Amino acid sequence: MGMAVLMNFNDEMKKRVTEIRSIIEKYLPQEEGFQKTLLEAMNYSMLVGGKKLRPLLMQQTYVMFGGHKRVIEPFMAAMEMIHTHSLIHDDLPAMDNDEYRRGKKTTHVVYGEAMAILAGDALLNLAYETASQAFDLEPGNPTVGKAFQILSAKTGMTGMIGGQSVDVEYVDRPLSAEQLQFIYELKTGALIEASMMIGAVLAGADADTVEKVGQIGQNVGMAFQIQDDILDVTGDEAVLGKPTKSDEKNHKITYVSVKGLDQARKDVERYSKEAVRLLEELPCENEFLHELILNLISRDARGRVALILLEQIEKANDIKKIDKEKLPELASEIRAFLIEKISRNGGHLASNLGVVELTD
Ligand code: IPE
Ligand code: IPE
Ligand code: MG
Ligand code: MG
Ligand code: MG
Repeated sequence: MGMAVLMNFNDEMKKRVTEIRSIIEKYLPQEEGFQKTLLEAMNYSMLVGGKKLRPLLMQQTYVMFGGHKRVIEPFMAAMEMIHTHSLIHDDLPAMDNDEYRRGKKTTHVVYGEAMAILAGDALLNLAYETASQAFDLEPGNPTVGKAFQILSAKTGMTGMIGGQSVDVEYVDRPLSAEQLQFIYELKTGALIEASMMIGAVLAGADADTVEKVGQIGQNVGMAFQIQDDILDVTGDEAVLGKPTKSDEKNHKITYVSVKGLDQARKDVERYSKEAVRLLEELPCENEFLHELILNLISRDARGRVALILLEQIEKANDIKKIDKEKLPELASEIRAFLIEKISRNGGHLASNLGVVELTD
């Protein structure tokens, strides 16, 4: 039964991501005029792929609080533009100097550095132009202004860009645990936090609840960035769509280099579970959002928020078809699956399944 739930989740996920892509595409520019190359470079990275996690979290939080209008859509597109801007700039030679992103050559490799800088800038600007369309959709709705404030504050110097600035400054220099936490909370946590908070604000949640939703986003953000660091060490470039060992190449101090892989994995679980605990305290619920956050624990090397090997097993004999080398990976998927189920269904199942470490 558990497996069926998961497979439904994967189908649901695919459907929702497709829907989000079509919402975002509506706000992308036509590639015409003398600045055509700039517009192509902007669309290039937006259209090549990506999990669309931030707009998904925004939409699902909005729905959870009873939101059902189009006012959320310009904000969803804007958030993905800001995120894509951050990736284009993050990959530049002056920053992480990476050549692949979302399975394709990075924007500066295809269009040149100058055009990539401008495409990033223009996407950041287009994000606010896009979000401002929400004022036209619902003139007189004060939550639109509030959402706009969150979007701008969490992107800039006290949010994502602030975090990226400390990230690039501390290369080959000692970094305290506190500074590392600061970097992750800002460079990655801020956009995820903002996505969920905007969903709550636009659906009319009160200030205390929005604050709590922000905390959920922060925990999801921490789990997400630590998992990104883990995949940078253990992932497969072909399936991840971006280079591995980028952090090592850039002499980055990461969560994995400070705490080791095992501890990093435990902390991903800890942050994800804290996010779920806070989510369960809210006065409303959204089963899909709940499942999504839990699935971040087992986010795989494809960068997909889903399990791969477990999905291939429908009957007992299917296990034999799985490559022996993949067995450790399968074991870790099963472990994540059990943790997820037992954390929700209670510990009495754990001893039967031999998951002794979980019965704390
Ligand atoms: C990559 O984000 C940058 C980090 C904050 C780790 P994602 O892993 O969400 O990238 P896409 O959008 O799926 O490409
Ligand atoms: C990037 O962190 C966070 C951003 C704000 C873009 P990373 O540098 O680890 O992200 P990846 O691994 O290149 O996606
Ligand atoms: Mg970086
Ligand atoms: Mg990078
Ligand atoms: Mg990374």
